[in-house]
Amino acid sequence: MSASQTRGPLHSAPLTQEWWRTAVIYQIYPRSFASGNRDGIGDLPGITRRLPYLRDLGVDAVWISPFYPSPQADAGYDVADYLDVDPLFGSLTDADDLVTIAHGLGLRVFVDVVPNHTSDEHAWFQQALAAGPGSPERARYWFLDSDDGPPNNWPSEFGGSAWTQVPDGQWYLHMFDRKQPDLNWSNPEVRAMFLDVLRFWLDRGVDGFRVDVAQALVKAHGLPDFHGDLHAIFDGKVPAYTAPFYDQDGVHDIYRDWRQLLDSYPGDRAMVAEAWVNPLERLSRYVRPDEFHQAFNFAFLQTPWNATALRTNIVESLQTNDAVGAPATWVLSSHDVIRPASRFGYAYDHISPWLAAGEPAPDITTGTRRARAAAMLMLALPGSAYIYQGEELGLPEVIDLPADARQDPTFTSSGGEILGRDGCRVPLPWEREAPGYGFGASNTTWLPQPDTFADLAVDQQTGQSGSTLELYRALLTIRRARQLAAGDMDLLDLGVELIGLRITTTTTTGTTQVVVNLADNDWPIPAGMKVLIASHPGVTGSVPSDHAVWLDVS
Ligand code: GLC
Repeated sequence: MSASQTRGPLHSAPLTQEWWRTAVIYQIYPRSFASGNRDGIGDLPGITRRLPYLRDLGVDAVWISPFYPSPQADAGYDVADYLDVDPLFGSLTDADDLVTIAHGLGLRVFVDVVPNHTSDEHAWFQQALAAGPGSPERARYWFLDSDDGPPNNWPSEFGGSAWTQVPDGQWYLHMFDRKQPDLNWSNPEVRAMFLDVLRFWLDRGVDGFRVDVAQALVKAHGLPDFHGDLHAIFDGKVPAYTAPFYDQDGVHDIYRDWRQLLDSYPGDRAMVAEAWVNPLERLSRYVRPDEFHQAFNFAFLQTPWNATALRTNIVESLQTNDAVGAPATWVLSSHDVIRPASRFGYAYDHISPWLAAGEPAPDITTGTRRARAAAMLMLALPGSAYIYQGEELGLPEVIDLPADARQDPTFTSSGGEILGRDGCRVPLPWEREAPGYGFGASNTTWLPQPDTFADLAVDQQTGQSGSTLELYRALLTIRRARQLAAGDMDLLDLGVELIGLRITTTTTTGTTQVVVNLADNDWPIPAGMKVLIASHPGVTGSVPSDHAVWLDVS
C-alpha cells in the first residue's frame, strides 16, 4: 500500500525558532518525584539529585508543581506564601541551587503560579477574616452577604457549594476546596501582588511559569447563577465560557500585563496556560502573540483512542494555533488525570480525566501498548510537548489505593464518588531493590507504592531494549536529530483507522513518515521505507494494531 497525500501542507514550519516552540517539558510533581530525606515526601534536594536523569532522558525543561509554604489541603495548590519554600520541600537556597544546577545541565525551569486562589492560611485571608465585612482586606476576595444560603448556586469543582460562611455571617467564594478562597481579580491590589510574585521568581532566574486554572480568574459581572452542566464542560462537550466563572474575556488583560513583564527580562522567558477551555478556537486566544507562549492542549489528552477523533483534533489544533502564530502544546498526562497506560486500557472511551468509584479495572497490557503508540504520535507532532513524571516509565494509575491512604480533597468532598487524583501521584520507583524503590532514604512513601512498580523502576528499564523508558529516550533523540517538531507537516490518507503524518524539515535529515495503526489488522510498511523506531522493537515488516512507527522516507 502506498501513502497518498490528500492535502497541502497542513502546518508550515514556524518563522521563528524560540526554544519554547518545540520544547519537550517534563512535569515534576515534587511530593512524588524523589526525596532527599527519610520523610517519604519528595523535595527540592531530591529533584536536584535526579536532574541528570532528566538531562539523559533528553528533555529541554522542567516544570515544577508548587513547593511554596502551604497547609497542603490541595497538595500545595493552596499557597500560603508565594515568595518562599515550604520546609517540607526545602528552602529558598535549595530552590536557587536547583535552578543553577538545572541550567548547568542545559535544562530550563518553570515554576507554578496559582493566581485564582490563595490558601485560607495566606496572610491576606487571615487579615480579611480579622478585618470584617466591608473592609479593604475582604475586597481582595469574594466576600458577600446572603441571608438565605449561599449567594449563588455555583458548584465547587471538588464537590458541594462553592461558598462557605464565616462566623460573622458573610460567605466567601472558593471554586475548589474551602481552604482555597478565590481572589477578586477586579481589585488592583491583587493584580499588583502577582506582578511582584512573577518578578520575585524571574529575578531568581526561573525561565517561566505554568499558570494554574488560567481560565478562572475573572468572574462574570454580578456573579449570576450557573444553569449549565459542569461535567459537560469538563468533558469538552460544552464551551467553558457558558459558565460565569470560566473563560471570561477579561482574563486576557491579565496575561497581556504578565507577558509584558516577561518580555522585559532577557533570556526568552515563557509561560504556559493551564486553561481547560473549549472549543480549541477559544484556547488559541490564550496564545495570541501578546499573551501566553503555550497552552496545554487538553482536548488532545481527552481524545479517545480513535483515529478519526485524533486526526480531527490534530487538524483543529494546528489550524487554530497557526492562526495566531503559536505552537500547539501536546499533552497526554498530568498530576490531575488518569495515567495514559490505564486510560487507554478501558473497554469504553474514558473521556473524563478523573476516575469514578466503581469503574472496572482497565486492561493495562492494551493500555500500555496504546500509550506507547500515543507517545510516538505526540512526540512527532509539530510544536511543544509535555511529559508528566512516570509517563516515560509507563506507570499505570494506581486504582486500588485504600480509602484511608487517599489524600486528594476531591475524594472526601465528593463523598468518595470521585476516587480522586492520588492514583497518578504515587511516588516514583527508581531502584527495584532499594527501600521505597529508591524514592527516598527510607521505605516510607506518602502514598503506598504497588508491587507492580518493581519491574517499572528506572534501574530496571535503563538499557533494557523494549522498555518504555528506552523508547522515550530514543524518541527524544530522534525528534531532536530530525527536528521533527519544527518541520512542515502533512496529514496522509492511509485509511480511516490509521493516522499518517509526513514531516519535512529544512535540514538535510530527510523526510519522516509517522504511522499509528488503530485498525485491527496490520499495516504493511511500504518497500523503501526504513524503520527509524517502532513502539515495539519487534516491529519490522508491518505495523500491528495499536502500534506506531517512525519511518525514514527520503
Ligand atoms: C489545577 C491544578 C490542580 C488543582 C487545581 C486547583 O487544576 O492542576 O491540581 O487542584 O488547579 O488549584
